[in-house]
Amino acid sequence: MKFFIDTANIEQIRKAAALGVLDGVTTNPTLLSREEGEFKDVLKEICSIVPGPVSAEVVSLDAEGMVEEGRELCRIADNIIIKVPCIMEGIKAIGMFSAEGIDTNATLCFSANQGLLAAKAGATFVSPFVGRIDDITWPGMELVDDLMTIFTNYTFTTEVIVSSIRSVQHVYEAALIGADVATIPFKVIEQLIKHPLTDVGIERFLADWEKVKK
Ligand code: E4P
Repeated sequence: MKFFIDTANIEQIRKAAALGVLDGVTTNPTLLSREEGEFKDVLKEICSIVPGPVSAEVVSLDAEGMVEEGRELCRIADNIIIKVPCIMEGIKAIGMFSAEGIDTNATLCFSANQGLLAAKAGATFVSPFVGRIDDITWPGMELVDDLMTIFTNYTFTTEVIVSSIRSVQHVYEAALIGADVATIPFKVIEQLIKHPLTDVGIERFLADWEKVKK
C-alpha cells in the first residue's frame, strides 16, 4: 500500500518524508487555507520535498474552467496531479485531462457509481472519503472494498486512495482490503508506530542493559 500524507503543512510533510515511507501528498482548499503564504509557493515547496504525486484541487465548477485551472496548477511542478470533484462537469474534465496526459484524482467520492464513472473517464486515482461516510453512520470502508472489486472486475488502472482517514483502524482496514493508497493525516501517521508494549519493552531492556554495563 502506498502512503500519502493528507496535509499542506511543510513541517509535517518534511517529518513524514524523513521516515522514508512517503509516496505522495494530498492537499485540498481547506488544508491549504490553514497554511501561511501564497498557495502556489506552498505547493511548489511540497513538490520539492516529495517526488511522488502531489494533489492540487481545482475550484471551478465547469469542465472548461477546471481544465484551465488544472493546466495552470501543472506549471507549478512536474509531480502536481489535479484533484477534480466527482460531479458531472468533473467527469467531463477528467476525460479532458486524460486526453492531455494530465493525471487526476477524483475527489469527494461517496458512492461506487461516482468512482466507476471517474475511472471510466480515465481518472488516475479515485478518493473515497471514508471518515465523512462514517460520520453519517454508514461504514465508509465498504465503499473502498466495492471500488477495489469494481476496478478489478473491469481491469481499470485507476487506483483507490483511501481518504478522510481519522484513525489507525482505517489504515489497518484499508491494508486488509488491499487498497492501493492511504492518504493519512500526520497525527495518524505518528500513531501507526506507537504501541505501549513497545515503550515498556524498551524501558525494560534499557534498565537491564544498565546492569550488564556495571
Ligand atoms: C483527501 O484527499 C482529502 O484531502 C481528505 O482526506 C479529506 O479529509 P477530511 O474529511 O478529514 O477533511
